[in-house]
Amino acid sequence: MSLSETARAVREHAHAPYSGFKVGAAIQAADGSIHAGCNVENVSYPEGTCAEAGAIAAMVAAGQTRITAAYVIADSPAPITPCGGCRQKLAEFAAGPDMPVTMANLDGVERTMTMAELLPDAFDRGHTIR
Ligand code: THU
Repeated sequence: MSLSETARAVREHAHAPYSGFKVGAAIQAADGSIHAGCNVENVSYPEGTCAEAGAIAAMVAAGQTRITAAYVIADSPAPITPCGGCRQKLAEFAAGPDMPVTMANLDGVERTMTMAELLPDAFDRGHTIR
């Protein structure tokens, strides 16, 4: 399955009884493998996790640490954009600033931006080393 097909399919598994907003994410790792995630909400609302976080966790658990492309999909009027926290999480593993993030809705509307466009002037590990 392609990145977009994987994201669309995993979205169906989202656990979103509180927001009713299902999100699917798929990321491609440097070895070509694809990892999927969906949002998983909790009755204790802050404990919920985003789709991108699930996909990243699956990738790291599979032994991969570099994302070459990401795809996020939801049933939104315009293509969903990753939340701020997920931009930071994606940046941690992005292969580079030009890593493409494709955002989509269920109507098939897609928009692609680079990691650097989504999170300009990112806080990165360079800031932590003096
Ligand atoms: N959500 C994601 O899964 N990814 C995002 O980038 C934006 C928001 C989820 C969190 C919550 O379960 C639902 O969408 C509504 O905010």
